[in-house]
Amino acid sequence: MGTIAKSGMLSDPDSVMRVENIVDLRSDTVTRPTDPMRRAMAEAEVGDDVYGEDPTVNRLEKRAAEIFGKEAALFVPTGCMGNLIAIKILTHHGNEVICDERSHVNLYELASMSAIAGCMPRIARGEEGILSWKMIEAVIRPKIYYDSQTALICLENTHNMWGGTVYPTASVDEICGYAHDAGLKVHMDGARIFNAATALGESVARMTKHLDSVMFCLSKGLGAPVGSMIVGSAAFTEKARIYRKMFGGGMRQAGVLAAAGFLALEESPKRLHIDHANAQVLAKGIAAIRGLKVDPAKVRSNIVIFDCEGTGKNAVELCDLLREKDIWALDTATYSVRFVTHCDVDRAGCERALSVLAEVVAQTQTARG
Ligand SMILES: Cc1ncc(COP(=O)(O)O)c(C=O)c1O
Repeated sequence: MGTIAKSGMLSDPDSVMRVENIVDLRSDTVTRPTDPMRRAMAEAEVGDDVYGEDPTVNRLEKRAAEIFGKEAALFVPTGCMGNLIAIKILTHHGNEVICDERSHVNLYELASMSAIAGCMPRIARGEEGILSWKMIEAVIRPKIYYDSQTALICLENTHNMWGGTVYPTASVDEICGYAHDAGLKVHMDGARIFNAATALGESVARMTKHLDSVMFCLSKGLGAPVGSMIVGSAAFTEKARIYRKMFGGGMRQAGVLAAAGFLALEESPKRLHIDHANAQVLAKGIAAIRGLKVDPAKVRSNIVIFDCEGTGKNAVELCDLLREKDIWALDTATYSVRFVTHCDVDRAGCERALSVLAEVVAQTQTARG
């Protein structure tokens, strides 16, 4: 993943003009702050957050804890740091962390759970990324002194690399119940948990009731420019503050960021159904293009991953062809392409992406004869 096909865009003198035409579906991390967010940032009351004196950060943390029904929350610079802090707190060096094979903590966090927290990922294969207690139980290590010990289970909701799949809350509850009985902790990488909440029609408080900790991102579907949060007990958050500083994430007048985050948290969840409807339009349109494969019924949130093997082009080649026509997508495997909908792409943009995709695929088929 992550191959960016053409990099000349910003050095192009016409780039400002062209940026307006670009439909950037690579990720929901590409959103830019709205005008109200920019105003809130400019006007934010700030203080030194390492001293706990930034009123805007404090307000954001209090509100996040309230929304999740947890004792406390902590503002962190990134989702990766939030996950690492939780793993560090909920494990000891030499422990194992059970996670899905294609989870972000396993694939895209530079092995920080090993390099920094001293843990090994113990892989379970979820059903489209969604783990059940049965799958988890099968990889828990026996309590023998010469075996490394399982300490933590990490669940990803929604699951990015499985196309935004969603955990049923009953399943999360069941995992937490059995895990706690077995002396294990459960963390949720909820980078896109508000997308999951939208898909389920449930509150994040209910969905995360029994988890030990949750990380969620303000800077993805919620549209803030920077920042993530970790929520949990007061004791967990107190330790999280220490590790945030140790990992270099103690920020000073961070209220300028938290101000945008606050708006993202309050306002953006209300509009995520629009992104999900746009993802459905994309999925149905893609399913109708010969040579591409996706099952729209499996698209639950804002991520559409489709197979392009039938076009004769691999994912990098297809992304390159799309990019020439200002449609930006991401290759996620040799023949897998990802489109992610978000607040900076509207229905018209999705329709344009579909018509360009159909045109590009038809051209590859004509060329093959
Ligand atoms: C599921 C998931 N978890 C964690 C992260 C990490 O977030 P960040 O990029 O803010 O470190 C991402 C980023 O894409 C993600 O998709």
